[in-house]
Amino acid sequence: MGEPLSVLTVSTRTLVAVPLLEAVKGAVRRRLVARAGGIDLTQVHRVPDRLSWPLDRQQVDPHPRLGELRTKDPVSKLVTFLGMDVWIVTGDAEGREVLGDLTSYSTDVRPYYGKSGAENGDIGGLGFTDPPEHTRLRKLLTPEFTMRRLARLRPAIDQIIDQQLDETERVAAANDGVVDLVKTFAFPIPFLVICELLGLRDEDRETFRRLGSARFDVSFGGGAIMGAVGASRGFLFAECERQRTDPGPGLIGQIIREHGDEINDFDLGGLADGAFTGGLETSASMLALGTVVLLDRPELYAGMASDPASVAPTVEEMLRFLSVVQVAFPRFAKDEVMVGGHRIRKGSCVMVHLPAANRDPRTYPAGDAIDPARATGSHLAFGYGFHRCVGAELAKMELRAAYPALARRFPDLALAVPAEELAYHAKSIVYGVESVPVRLHG
Ligand code: HEM
Repeated sequence: MGEPLSVLTVSTRTLVAVPLLEAVKGAVRRRLVARAGGIDLTQVHRVPDRLSWPLDRQQVDPHPRLGELRTKDPVSKLVTFLGMDVWIVTGDAEGREVLGDLTSYSTDVRPYYGKSGAENGDIGGLGFTDPPEHTRLRKLLTPEFTMRRLARLRPAIDQIIDQQLDETERVAAANDGVVDLVKTFAFPIPFLVICELLGLRDEDRETFRRLGSARFDVSFGGGAIMGAVGASRGFLFAECERQRTDPGPGLIGQIIREHGDEINDFDLGGLADGAFTGGLETSASMLALGTVVLLDRPELYAGMASDPASVAPTVEEMLRFLSVVQVAFPRFAKDEVMVGGHRIRKGSCVMVHLPAANRDPRTYPAGDAIDPARATGSHLAFGYGFHRCVGAELAKMELRAAYPALARRFPDLALAVPAEELAYHAKSIVYGVESVPVRLHG
């Protein structure tokens, strides 16, 4: 088990720009791509507002224009950008229609960088991979996320949470009772859980933490992030190589033991890295923003500690309500396709806006409110279809353990600044908040 962590600094404002735009400044700069109308990402230096406004929020709520769009037409053309039609889907049924369509779309963005498959070390992971490669890799990963395998992580998760609550108390005691929960609670918990999941050795976790957190820190610009991406991926590739001869107790070792000859170190490192990038920021944002939401609804916060039956439905509702992943992986139409009565041209990009779809009153009567009595597990916060989040159950396990533990330990927890003054992320695919300063004892 890892040491308590209190120094993860994370800032993810420009995640949109990072994989899609900054990467093109490197070796791939000169490659112009002949796909989907020949979009050349190397020409894109700034995402125009008419394309990026759907990522804006008003604190925890999606941009009000999204609700208007959903009422008017849940499938709307957002913009034609460099010759490519970009569509936005804001309705639940229409979102499922797109995400559940197994044949009409590709999510592989690598050709837009002029590279494909294993040629490109910086972009990849399951999300940007199409069948049959996606099917082959996902089959190796899913057994690691069954309830039975995950149950083995449960004691470690509880211990990590306890340890970080101790750390929260320690830091607050040294700072007049005030502490930033992002640093001691929201980020360290999923980070240490992922270390446990991957089976990283205790002595390597500090190195991985340093490399990993640099990757989410935009203070030094996109170039620094791409360097950090390379460094933390490099760490995982080296770790996979090391575990070939000494398989650890976690996901990496298990895949090596059971399927070692079916997967090379590059693909294995990519899967481990996908779990890291897919699981860290998302779960951390849910813990941070979720706490802000709970503190604004004292009855729900108190219920976390006093009413175990309320925990699972409240967590489902918070996942739906917050939908921290703002858009599913972009789907590129392989051929002309009809969606919600619209003819979508071949090569168009279709973005399913998850927070908008998840507040669609046609499916969710609670709409813009949180109502645990009407909770459903079939919301779109984890996506839908064959790219649906593999880590969904693990994420829920963490949230269902962490919020109640926080509420039990600090029943009088209160924000140290008004919720509207918190530094919410601007224009990031994974929505979140920079810091959550709290007073532990009211
Ligand atoms: C609250 C936490 C989380 C949220 C809200 C979340 C949300 C999502 C969403 C929306 C997708 C894309 C679905 C699509 O485009 O159809 C996704 C994919 C993915 N997630 Fe998560 N996720 C969370 C936690 C995790 C965790 C803990 C892990 C692993 C440790 C993980 C690993 C992945 C992977 C590997 C994919 C790609 C799956 C594929 O393409 O087949 N996620 N997640």
